[in-house]
Amino acid sequence: MMDAVFITGRKQAFDFKGPLLPATYFRKSFTVGPGLVSAKLMMTALGIYVPYINGIKPDDRLMTPGYTEYPKRLQYQTYDVTEFIREGENVIAAELGDGWYRGSCGPMGARGTYGDVLGLASELELVYTDHTERVLTDITWKWTDNGPITNQDIKLIEHYDARKEIPGWELPSFDDSGWANASLTEYEGELIPDEGEKICVHETFTPVILKTPDGSTVLDFKQNLAGFVTFTVTGKKGMTVCLLHGEVLDENGNFTTSNLGNEKMLPIGQKIVYDLKDGTQTYHPKFMIAGFRYVKLIDWPEEVVPENFTASAVYSDLRFIGTFSCSNEKVNRLVKNVEWSLKSNFVDIPTDCPHRERGGWTGDINVFNECANILADTRRFLSKWLKDVVLTQTDDGAVISVVPSVFMMNRKSRELTPGAAGWADAITCIPLRQYHSYGETYDIEHSYEAMKKYVDFNIKRSGKTTIRSLFRKKENRDYILDNGFHYGEWLEPGAANMVDALKAILMPDSEVATAWFFWSAGKLSEAAEILGKTEDAARYRELSEKVKKAYIAEFIKDGKIKSKRMCKYVRPLYMGIAEGELAKDIARELNSLVKENDYCIGTGFLSTYQILNVLTDFGYHETACRMIENEKCPGWLYEVSRGATTIWEGCDAIDPGTGRVKAKSLNHYSPGAAVSWLWTRLCGIKPIAPGYKEIVIEPRPGGTFRQARASYNSVSGMIVSDWSISEEGEFTLDAVIPEGVKARVVLPDGEIFDDARSGRFSCSYQGGKIPKTI
Ligand code: BGC
Repeated sequence: MMDAVFITGRKQAFDFKGPLLPATYFRKSFTVGPGLVSAKLMMTALGIYVPYINGIKPDDRLMTPGYTEYPKRLQYQTYDVTEFIREGENVIAAELGDGWYRGSCGPMGARGTYGDVLGLASELELVYTDHTERVLTDITWKWTDNGPITNQDIKLIEHYDARKEIPGWELPSFDDSGWANASLTEYEGELIPDEGEKICVHETFTPVILKTPDGSTVLDFKQNLAGFVTFTVTGKKGMTVCLLHGEVLDENGNFTTSNLGNEKMLPIGQKIVYDLKDGTQTYHPKFMIAGFRYVKLIDWPEEVVPENFTASAVYSDLRFIGTFSCSNEKVNRLVKNVEWSLKSNFVDIPTDCPHRERGGWTGDINVFNECANILADTRRFLSKWLKDVVLTQTDDGAVISVVPSVFMMNRKSRELTPGAAGWADAITCIPLRQYHSYGETYDIEHSYEAMKKYVDFNIKRSGKTTIRSLFRKKENRDYILDNGFHYGEWLEPGAANMVDALKAILMPDSEVATAWFFWSAGKLSEAAEILGKTEDAARYRELSEKVKKAYIAEFIKDGKIKSKRMCKYVRPLYMGIAEGELAKDIARELNSLVKENDYCIGTGFLSTYQILNVLTDFGYHETACRMIENEKCPGWLYEVSRGATTIWEGCDAIDPGTGRVKAKSLNHYSPGAAVSWLWTRLCGIKPIAPGYKEIVIEPRPGGTFRQARASYNSVSGMIVSDWSISEEGEFTLDAVIPEGVKARVVLPDGEIFDDARSGRFSCSYQGGKIPKTI
């Protein structure tokens, strides 16, 4: 347990509209005697800190202490620093920047969200053969902010003036008599040991140099990512480097960041300024990361050589567990793009996009959860974040839309839209999804009371009378969610964020809200069942049945959905609101709508992730295949055909005719969530029991796919479904089933193998069965 106090450097009134501030440098010299056995450093900050022991950074962790709901809790890191300590004088040092704590955060890019004053807390434990000593932060630590990082922000800018470097400041024998003594500052939340995955550098890329039509020099790293650029430059004092990061070229082939918004409303920044000293020097930012594929060299003092630049992808150190490949190369690229959007948006918390808002939007991860769990082991990462979702729940039970909480429209309110359907429901859906993926009840146990509070909040608000509810049949009124703020389906093709936001404010969609009310009540009942809370399980099951009945009565009157919007069909199907003949009718209609729409995407945020699943599950697998393989706009492979390397916020983000980039991010994982279908339907790996202890492998060929292979390294072991169809029409499946996992294999001709083991299964794809097991 860490219990050091927080110290700070300059205490000045923070002006969130004022200039950005320099980094602060702290140092503390101490003496080590003979007989040292081990040394352990615990450190954290209100801001982002970079630690050093005798000038050495103890490990590869970046952006420490990570991002939590700071008013409530703050992580600290522990480092084994034994090997860096020596007898005699030693120095513990740290650089401190604004980070998420005081830097630009959330949809409005507000600064100073969590506090005005940065702080550092450090505890070094020195274990000797016969006693233990501790070096703690206190007012004897020295600081300066007159160093090389002259201003910084986590997203806007990092300005490094190499002429202001302070040689040896982090080493022993440095004269710090000109530095000021630290003062104390307060932190009222709880200090907790690291809960997530460490953030560090992963892949690196060397660029191709472009000369764009407007005469600029632009580096193309060929991969959209979140991270930073390391550069080596040779020059003289007085020369400057300036880099601007963006993710796309405009219709004329010039660098632009206009898709990320209007600099006046929501500054994007993503700028590095570097003032040279004499000679050859290498730099990368410490406190800023950017979302980018392209870097415009606004200033560069010498010939531009690709080898002088490296882009480093920075993200949480997840274990990737799902792979996919098939005969359609563009689908393979699509999967890579989803993986890259996951990487770009899993930087300690799950975000919507790595540049514009960088918010922990609950809805985005709610729809992406299953896909994320197929690609990576998200247990630690999401458990940590879920705890903040619980901690930020409002007193009346609403769940906020961006976690950790950020300023939304103004600097007073941390949340304007609590309880938004599909977003707030992350609290009921994610713990259950984690349970199904990994077979562990930890998240359900931890979130159970919050889940319940949220569903009870929905009960309360659906019970309130509104003008709209007065027009409903009396028996349905209490079960239709007619009030509250709801984003609705959100961003169906063609829609713009602002227009959708206005719709959400003026006429929130009761159909969407009621469907999620039903879904969450059901999830809660399931959670209760798992935890053995039988009374709750029965109570909320009954509630979900009543909501379902009301939904059908109000929104599927006379068995018909009176809308041409695909989402209105997808939702009742995947949520299981419509069943039996009614579901079949709805699915048939959905299939027609997709065909009429030329197999293009017509759904928005809350249904795109499920449309392929429902098409396949209701017998329209061929339509699903044609849809995912469709290269027309809006479609997943349209993006790929346009050279996308991550998933776009909308599949129509670049106009197919003009090539103009709309005001949409090009790195939003949510619409890519549908690729989980490649594992669960095309290759047919489906968990039946939590943690894949029991599975079905039911490959379903279709479309142009002649071969597909999905692997999933589940907690129960490696599962593979690898199928192909030969020229002669023989279908072969190579399946890997882990020891101890109960598996059933279903071949495309309907042949079923219960209690299947790893091996090869085949049949004639056209008809006659040739089942053999090897
Ligand atoms: C974000 C989304 C988010 C949404 C709320 C957008 O601006 O980028 O992904 O969920 O707002 O609807």
